[in-house]
Amino acid sequence: MGNEYIEAARVFHEITKHSYTSVRASPHFLDWDNKPMPYKIYPGAASVALPRDLNLSSTPTLAALSSYMPAEFSAAIDTAALTRILFCADGLTRQKRVGDDDYHFRAAASAGALYPIEIYVAASDVDGLESGLYHFSPADLRMTGLRRGDWRGYIASAAAKRPSVLHARVVIAMSAIYWRSEWKYRARAYRYCYWDAGTILANMLAAAAAEEISAEVITAFDDPALEALLGIDTEREGMIALVALGRTEQSAAPSPAAEPLTLETIPLSSNEVAYPDLVKIHRESRLVTADELATVAAAKLDSARPIPSTGAIHLDTITSEESAGLGETILRRGSSRAFAQEAITAAELATIMAASSEHPQADFPPLTDTYLIVNAATGLEPGAYYYDRDARAFELLKAGSFRGEAGYLCLEQPLGMDCSALVVYMADLERALAAFGNRGYGDAHLEAGILGGRAYLAAYSLGRGATGLTFYDDDTSKFFAPHAGGKSPLLMVAIGVPRSRTKA
Ligand SMILES: Cc1cc2nc3c(=O)[nH]c(=O)nc-3n(C[C@H](O)[C@H](O)[C@H](O)COP(=O)(O)O)c2cc1C
Repeated sequence: MGNEYIEAARVFHEITKHSYTSVRASPHFLDWDNKPMPYKIYPGAASVALPRDLNLSSTPTLAALSSYMPAEFSAAIDTAALTRILFCADGLTRQKRVGDDDYHFRAAASAGALYPIEIYVAASDVDGLESGLYHFSPADLRMTGLRRGDWRGYIASAAAKRPSVLHARVVIAMSAIYWRSEWKYRARAYRYCYWDAGTILANMLAAAAAEEISAEVITAFDDPALEALLGIDTEREGMIALVALGRTEQSAAPSPAAEPLTLETIPLSSNEVAYPDLVKIHRESRLVTADELATVAAAKLDSARPIPSTGAIHLDTITSEESAGLGETILRRGSSRAFAQEAITAAELATIMAASSEHPQADFPPLTDTYLIVNAATGLEPGAYYYDRDARAFELLKAGSFRGEAGYLCLEQPLGMDCSALVVYMADLERALAAFGNRGYGDAHLEAGILGGRAYLAAYSLGRGATGLTFYDDDTSKFFAPHAGGKSPLLMVAIGVPRSRTKA
């Protein structure tokens, strides 16, 4: 039926909600013998090694999170800069031995450490790299060559001639292999894939800013054209976003036809399971016809319902120079596994919220509103808050200690109870769907992932901890009612003092 049939997103959202009862009634168990491999491997395909002496950026993290290069800025991109961006987005940063197995953790958080996102790179004008379409392989820091030549013109045509793509030196294409996340989260994995792409994007955009390279995120594109280019099987791998990096004055080469790609990939596990509800929402969100693409590319969001102010609280923030360098932050980042029930300062919280709230350069507008439960922040009364992203101000909705509620809402995980603040990204999904069709559903979740990823980076850059959390959907909406009337929670991020680690 297509992108305009928004009942598809409504139904999908409803049937993938978590509740106290649904979690207990679920018969699902984890089949460890069938756990999908987190890497896409093309055996036998030629690949190029990326440089390993990376010298990651020392630009203060908070500066990288709040700055953008204007799209007209045309700094060169060389292989080293491109590698730093890819490594900061999705590189392997830590290793842990559990039993007989080595687990590798990456630069960005991923729900369940399942890493469903794949990154493809269309290089047009990169010093030291032959123009071509590549697949990024984080495991060995290499890129597999998929197609030779300059594919920018082809991708720009698929992206409604978006100027940033038409002039990009590099276009990144991000997809999700749903099965990796479905293995644990079943159909709800569709949401997780957007969150995980968002945390990767938070890192990628900060790394690009630190390199003084412009970056724009695009989600309005012709899905079949990109699937054909990347050679992906649309039933199991879906396009999530494009990122246009840098600007070149070289005009895009005429687009050759994308002949079918015949490269084999290694199966991820012995038995891939497809969840029909996920397959359906993915199908109904694809932009297939020229009309669908043009409608979404030109869509405008209705103004939001006015939100009555309960009184703005402006707090001092910390200067960028006091935050760790971006490279150090990314290597230091990991999800806190336990918090110490200690306070962070109001200035730290205000700084993290401001950094998180920055909307990326994107072809979709801000769709997400931010709410919080403040458990312990010196200088800010405990309570439930709305955070005004534009005014960078807190508004107290109800005062009091809500540690118990915070712990309950995030699926009864102690992390919510013990953190200093539980950040809740919410959206009026009906408004997003009315403007962008089902595509707006993915956009809102992607944006929440980006904002959540930014909160992670800001927290770690100040020596604090963070973790993404999932939640009971309707109970969270009820908790923030009536202020959050009509809004759905999209993602939670807990911020706090990691247990057994005092501030560096
Ligand atoms: C969207 C999202 C949801 C997450 N949900 C939870 C959660 O509910 N509980 C939890 O303990 N960790 C959660 N995490 C943290 C992941 O488990 C963690 O990112 C993953 O294990 C990788 O480890 P790292 O972040 O330390 O690199 C979540 C992370 C993301 C990005």
